Amino acid sequence: MTEPRQVIIAGNWKMNSTPGGAGQLAADIAAATRVDSVSRVICPPYVCLAPVGAALGGTGVAVGAQNVHSESAGAFTGEVSAAMLVGLATWSIIGHSERRRDQGETDELVARKLVRCTENGLRAIMCVGEQLAERRSGKAEATVRGQLERMLAELSRLGAALPVDLVIAYEPVWAIGTGLTARGADAAAMAQLIRAVLGDAGAANAGADLPVLYGGSVTSATIDEFLAEPDIDGALVGGASLKVDEMAGIVARAGLTAAARAKSAGAAAR
Ligand code: PGA
Repeated sequence: MTEPRQVIIAGNWKMNSTPGGAGQLAADIAAATRVDSVSRVICPPYVCLAPVGAALGGTGVAVGAQNVHSESAGAFTGEVSAAMLVGLATWSIIGHSERRRDQGETDELVARKLVRCTENGLRAIMCVGEQLAERRSGKAEATVRGQLERMLAELSRLGAALPVDLVIAYEPVWAIGTGLTARGADAAAMAQLIRAVLGDAGAANAGADLPVLYGGSVTSATIDEFLAEPDIDGALVGGASLKVDEMAGIVARAGLTAAARAKSAGAAAR
């Protein structure tokens, strides 16, 4: 029986919460989202990783970082390496569009971050997505294809392979924090393109099995549009991930998708 793709809901807290309050918020979210069939991840700021990890012990909710440095160690003041996160996080977001915008991160740099994640056993959620002008001019798919191909070229230059547990988040930049969302069908088409580009690279697990999440103004009211698409495997949630009720609604909806996938996989096996 082919295993259905995992349904994943990851919360990106961005630069919100404090070490004093983060543990309680994480515990409240874990208690309100007890759906074991959904892989749940909370990505708080670095300084909140320890209290969030302590609060999430035994809940089944994983802890993720929001970024790692592209080098292993060295004279990089204020930066955090993937090795430093071992024991604090098991996942990391890389290549988020806010970092591409504010820190000038390139696809090549993101590829090096991916290598650091793999070396240290962190499961990466790599973000890709187009700007509004690119979507309007019909270049959205070419933009995302270009991002993936530059990332793959850098991996190949480094002699590194795509990790088998990679997750891609398709996040149209114009949908992040704006209240605008992509259409489910457009996000699904992009997920197909992402699987095709990475599958063509011949990497294990990069084709049909690759989880692709949607991100950009996901709430309990907008999640259905995306999870109704068989090509979309969950969401990377920003603003709404700080709200317990919102996360409860999003994860409950994701649980329906996970249950439907398990049922159809079971039926196919009979
Ligand atoms: P948003 O952010 O849900 O607040 O739009 C999503 C993200 O940046 O990952």
